[in-house]
Amino acid sequence: MTIRDLIKRGYEFLEGAESAVLNCEVVLANVLGVEKEYLIAHSEEEVEEGLADLFMAYLKKVKSGEPVAYILKEKDFYGLSFFVDNRVLVPRPETEQLVETVLSFLEEKYGVKRSREFESDAEKFRILDVGTGSGNIAISLATNFQNLEAVALDVSDDAIEVARVNVNQHGVEDRVELYQSDLLDAIEDGENFHVIVANLPYIGTKTNSDVDENVEKHEPASALFAGEDGLDLYLKMFKQIQEKNVSYDLIVGEFGSMQREDMEALLTDFFGQNWRIEKDLAGLDRMFVVEYKS
Ligand SMILES: C[S@@+](CC[C@H](N)C(=O)[O-])C[C@H]1O[C@@H](n2cnc3c(N)ncnc32)[C@H](O)[C@@H]1O
Repeated sequence: MTIRDLIKRGYEFLEGAESAVLNCEVVLANVLGVEKEYLIAHSEEEVEEGLADLFMAYLKKVKSGEPVAYILKEKDFYGLSFFVDNRVLVPRPETEQLVETVLSFLEEKYGVKRSREFESDAEKFRILDVGTGSGNIAISLATNFQNLEAVALDVSDDAIEVARVNVNQHGVEDRVELYQSDLLDAIEDGENFHVIVANLPYIGTKTNSDVDENVEKHEPASALFAGEDGLDLYLKMFKQIQEKNVSYDLIVGEFGSMQREDMEALLTDFFGQNWRIEKDLAGLDRMFVVEYKS
């Protein structure tokens, strides 16, 4: 069977479900060990029977609702490939905006260009990533700025194990430290960071009616839910930052588009007027940004 025939078969098997073609292409490219673009350029190439069977076996899992990233044990984020399994949240494209915001802030505030080369005389940056999951945010930052060190925390030992795989895979083990920690418990009073970045769980247990059934079924609850209104963990994190007197130039975090009002009230309580809300590419309120002003 050719690549073209196999994709058609897969598409029909998925009964034209949302993203069916994309899922078929991503899965087949992974099974064949090629880039997705290869499939189009080589659509008449024959696929070995064993690989065609594996492709169909993976599609059965896709059809049952298992996230493709868990099936393939891989997810792209900010141009890098991350190992993922059901111990961590699958990195979402909207979270790339947090990474971009941090990189742009460092460039603008300190007048340095993001660089993959270590420059011994360049400013060194210290980042705190709270709720690191697969390590996608801290590792993307460290990969883009050689002069950057990150402390990455997660309450889940399982997540820390997954993040360690990725830290090693991307060769940043000397610049990304991983600790199991309930929010900032592992951070000493008075520590200094240039940026604190967090994508903490923000779905409310009382307001979770629109959570995708498959997300709730397959992804870890500890990566999704945070109290009744979903903002419990951000409230605790802001308190800890203040109580521990942790210094920062910037705090960036992701939240749910329906939480704008509650988030605004929380930000005002802790940071006065030194914050702003930014929208994601879909135009939804998605990210808060706090800039320290003395
Ligand atoms: C929404 S996921 C984000 C994962 C990753 N940073 C990303 O952007 O894809 C939230 C992460 O926060 C972690 N988490 C939940 N409660 C926490 C807490 N109290 N302290 C630290 N991490 C926590 C979860 O284990 C999970 O890995």
